[in-house]
Amino acid sequence: MRIPIIAGNWKMNNTISQSIDLVKNIKKEDIKDKVEVVLAVPFTSLYEVKKHLDGTTIKLAAQNMHWEDKGAYTGEISPLMLKEIGVDYCIIGHSERRQYFNETDETVNKKIKAALKHNIKPIVCVGESLEEREKNIHEDIVKDQVIKALEGIDKSFIKDIVIAYEPIWAIGTGKTASSEDANTMCGLIRKTIGHMYGENAKNTIRIQYGGSVKPENIKELMEKEEIDGALVGGASLIAEDFIRIVNY
Ligand code: 13P
Repeated sequence: MRIPIIAGNWKMNNTISQSIDLVKNIKKEDIKDKVEVVLAVPFTSLYEVKKHLDGTTIKLAAQNMHWEDKGAYTGEISPLMLKEIGVDYCIIGHSERRQYFNETDETVNKKIKAALKHNIKPIVCVGESLEEREKNIHEDIVKDQVIKALEGIDKSFIKDIVIAYEPIWAIGTGKTASSEDANTMCGLIRKTIGHMYGENAKNTIRIQYGGSVKPENIKELMEKEEIDGALVGGASLIAEDFIRIVNY
């Protein structure tokens, strides 16, 4: 049984005080037992948000990290720094980082390895652009991203890795992939994991869908066999909407 995982990716939104307000509002509501809830908040808010999450079942995530433990990398944040705060998860390879900050399959791979080394669970993002979908090469693109992201990573880590399928054309656009398309792509990712790591890993790995997830479409997505959760952007910034998604 794969435990559903719903993560809110706040992206570059919320100052520390705004983050605290949002967490307090999220905490006011009851959360369904069988769902793992994760909040991916800006670096500056991690420490304070962690304090407010103590005593709850909600997990904390960073949105990025560097692969080295320390050193002359001005402006970067290391896994050690995140670990001391008590971060459970880290989003790695989000399409916005690939698009705007030159994140490559190679750096994604390094970051996943570093996260796992420090017991931080990576939420690895993959997904095709509109152009790639229109050219009908989306399956190859996503498969390739998965293979390159996980290159050299041992089977024993699969249980700690979450993959988020986020088609770029569905992010922040209001255009959700149809639940059938999302299911097909998550199934393709699962099959790829099966080829790389075997049947057990294939059945264990959790795969999220992300891209314009809202209270109105979460149920249909979660009913699909291959979809184990959601990575939610915009709708995770409104406590009421996020809770409705979590309690789909
Ligand atoms: P939206 O839910 O705003 O489309 O963002 C999705 C996303 O990028 C989550 O990581």
